[in-house]
Amino acid sequence: MGMDIEKLISEMTLEEKASLLSGADFWHTKAVERLGIPSTMVSDGPHGLRKQDEAGDHLGVNDSIKAVCFPTASATAASFDREMLLRIGEGIGDACQHENLSVVLGPAVNIKRSPLCGRNFEYFSEDPFLAGELAAALIEGVQSRNVGTSIKHFAANNQEHRRMSSDSVIDERTLREIYLPAFEIAVKKAKPWTVMCSYNKVNGEYASQNHWLLTEVLRNEWGFDGYVMSDWGAVSDRVKGVAAGLDLEMPASGGSNDARIVAAVRSGALDEEAVNQSVRCILTVIDRYLSHRKPETEWDMEGQHQLAGKLASECMVLLKNEDHVLPFGKDEKVAVIGKFAREPRYQGGGSSHINSFRVESLMDALAGKDNIVFSQGYDTENEEADEELITQAVKAAAGCDKAVIVAGLPDSFESEGYDRSHMRMPRCQVELIERVALANPNTVVVLYNGSPVEMPWIACVKGLVEGYLGGQAIGAATKAVLWGEVNPCGRLPESFPLQLEDNPSFLTYQGEGNTAVYHEGVFVGYRYYDRKKMEVLFPFGFGLSYTSFSYSNLQLSASEMDDTQTLSVCVDVTNTGSRSGKEVVQLYVGAPECEVFRPVRELKGFEKIELSPGETKTVTFSLDRRAFAYWNTKLHDWFVADGDYTIQIGRSSRDIVLCRSVKVEGTVPEPQDPVSPDSIYMDLEKNPKAMSVVEPLFQKMRETFAGGDEKESDSAASEAVTDEMTQAMIRYMPLRGLLSFGGGSLSYDQLLEIADQINNMQ
Ligand code: BGC
Repeated sequence: MGMDIEKLISEMTLEEKASLLSGADFWHTKAVERLGIPSTMVSDGPHGLRKQDEAGDHLGVNDSIKAVCFPTASATAASFDREMLLRIGEGIGDACQHENLSVVLGPAVNIKRSPLCGRNFEYFSEDPFLAGELAAALIEGVQSRNVGTSIKHFAANNQEHRRMSSDSVIDERTLREIYLPAFEIAVKKAKPWTVMCSYNKVNGEYASQNHWLLTEVLRNEWGFDGYVMSDWGAVSDRVKGVAAGLDLEMPASGGSNDARIVAAVRSGALDEEAVNQSVRCILTVIDRYLSHRKPETEWDMEGQHQLAGKLASECMVLLKNEDHVLPFGKDEKVAVIGKFAREPRYQGGGSSHINSFRVESLMDALAGKDNIVFSQGYDTENEEADEELITQAVKAAAGCDKAVIVAGLPDSFESEGYDRSHMRMPRCQVELIERVALANPNTVVVLYNGSPVEMPWIACVKGLVEGYLGGQAIGAATKAVLWGEVNPCGRLPESFPLQLEDNPSFLTYQGEGNTAVYHEGVFVGYRYYDRKKMEVLFPFGFGLSYTSFSYSNLQLSASEMDDTQTLSVCVDVTNTGSRSGKEVVQLYVGAPECEVFRPVRELKGFEKIELSPGETKTVTFSLDRRAFAYWNTKLHDWFVADGDYTIQIGRSSRDIVLCRSVKVEGTVPEPQDPVSPDSIYMDLEKNPKAMSVVEPLFQKMRETFAGGDEKESDSAASEAVTDEMTQAMIRYMPLRGLLSFGGGSLSYDQLLEIADQINNMQ
C-alpha cells in the first residue's frame, strides 16, 4: 500500500513541491509532514557506508559510524568478477537496510583517462565495458536489498583539478564510445534508482543543467526512470536544472533555489509540469524504498570483514614472479618490510572514506607465524629516505630467505579533490626497494595504491603483487596471496605505462583554465598503446597465476553474418598447471579499416572461471551489433561498417592467444553526404547513383591526364604522369574539377544541376 503519488502531487502547493527538490540537510530529502511524506537519508559510498549522523560534511572530517570498508573500485575492477561486485552490493544493501539509508552514493564509474586523476582509486577502469559491467553487478547487489544506488559522476568527470568549474570538451563519438557507455550499460542492465550528475561542464554546459545529458540521453535513449541528484554543490542555475532533468539538488541551498523555482513557475519561465515530474521521480524512489523496508536486517560486520578479505585476495594482481619466488614456503624465513605492512593504506581520502570498525594489516594476519622478521623501512610522512630505517631493513632482508616490501602511495599522494602531478612513488620507498633487493635477491614488492606508479626498480625485484586499495582486510588478503593460500587471479583493469609521458592524455590533461579538451579522442588506455605498438610496463588485462592455462578450440557460430544477428563465440580453457586457479578469459573485437580511426582491439566480453588442475571448461560469449559498432556522427547512432572483424581471445590486450574472423554486413546503409560541386571522386564512388551520372565525365578527365590527344613533342611530359598519379589525381578530384580539367564543355550551373539531379534520384 504505497503512496498515491499522483494524488500527493495534486494536493501539494507549488512551494511544497519546490521544497522537495532539494535536500533538508547534508544527507536527507525533505519531508512534507502535512501529507505524510517522510524524509529519507542517503549516504556515501561506494565501497561501504559513510553514514554521518550529525553535523555532516562531505570531506570526511566529521566521523561517520563504524562500518566495513570493502575493497575500493581500483581493486574490485581487477577482479574482473561480476559475482564479486554482486556480493559486495548485497553486503552494502544489508547495511543500508539496517541503518535506514534509502540510497548509497555509488558506484563511481568515470573512465581513468589519466593515471593522475586523484579519484582513480574510486573508479574502475580505462575501459568502459569493464566499468559498466562491474557497476551493473554492484547495483544489482545493493538493489536486491531494496535500497537504491546513485551511479556517479554523470558524466565525463575525469579530473579533480578545477572539478567544479572545468568544461570537459569531448567530441560526440568519443563521448559515446568511451565516456558514456559505463553509465549506459549500468542504467540499461541494472536500473539504478538514482544517478548523480557531476560537477563539471560537458561540452559547455554544466552536467547539472545539461538537458541533452540528463533528459535526451539518460531518460529518452536509455530509459532511466529514477531521480537525478546533483553532486554536492554542483548546481549552478537551479531553474535551468529543473528544466534539464535535475530532480534533486544536494545538499540544500538554504531555501534560496526552492524560491527561485517557485518564482520561475509563477513568471511562466518554468513549466510546472517539470516540477511535478521531478517530484514524481523522487517520490517514486522514496516509495519504493519505504514499501520494502526491512529494519530488522542484520548487519554482520564480522562476517563482512571476512568476506572483504576473501574478495580482496581475488583482486590482487601478480605482475611478476621470476623463478617462482612466490608463493613463500611455510618454512621460509621472510623479512616483511614497510610501514604499510603494519598500517596499510587500504582506501582513499574524501567522501568515500570509511570509519572501519577493524583494520587487518599484513602483520596482523601473520601474528603467531614463525620465521617472520618485521622492519619498518620508510615513513609515510617523509619523501626522503631515512638511513636508519633503510639500514635496519637491509639487515633484516639479508638475514632471511626472502624479503617482501609492502610499499605504495601514501594518502597525501592521491585523494579526492586534487590530482597527482606525477606518477612516482615516494623517493624513500624507491631507495628502500633498490637497497633491499641488493641485499636479498629474492625480494618481492607488494603495492597498495589507487593508481599506477612508475617502477624504475622493477628489474631489481623478482616478484610484484599489485594490491590496489583493497579494503580493511587487505592484510589477510596479502598474506593469502603471498603464502599461496589463494592463487592470485586479478588482472589489470588499466594499462601501466612505463612513464607518465607515454599516457595519451599527457600533453593536455587538466586542460587550459577551465577548458579540458580530450584531444586523444577514443584512444584512451590500451586503445592508444596497442594502436601505437608502444611498450608498456604492464598491459591492460595482464596478471599471472601460480598455475598456467591453455586455450584451444575457438569457435564462432558463423563466419558470415549481418548486424541483426548475434554471434556466439566458444573457447576451451584448460588448467595445465598443478593447482586450482581462476582465469579471466578476455574477448576483444578488432574492426576492419573503415571511415573512422578505430582501436586495434576493444574489450567486448570477459568471464572469470575456476579450473582444477587438468580441467577444461568451455566459455561462451554472445556478441550483438554493439560489439562491432562505432558511433557514427552523421547518423548520430551506432553503425556497423561492412567488413572482416577479428574475434581475439587474450590473456591481456597484448597477449592474444587465439583469433578468428567473421564477415559482418551492416544492415543500415552508410550515410552519404549530399552531392555538391565540392564532392570528391572517391566519395562519389561509394554512391552508385552518383557514379551512373559522373563516371563518364571523369572518364574524359582521365583521358586528358593520360595525354590521350597529346602531340609527339609532349611525350616526355606525359611519361612523367604515371597511371598511379592519374588515379590519385582523379581520386581526390572534386566534381568542380571537371570545369578545369574535363575538356571545358561544362559550366558551374550545370554542375549544380547534376548535383541536384543525383541528390533527387530515388
Ligand atoms: C563527491 C561525491 C559524494 C558527495 C557526497 C562529493 O564531493 O564528489 O562523490 O557522493 O560529495 O559526499
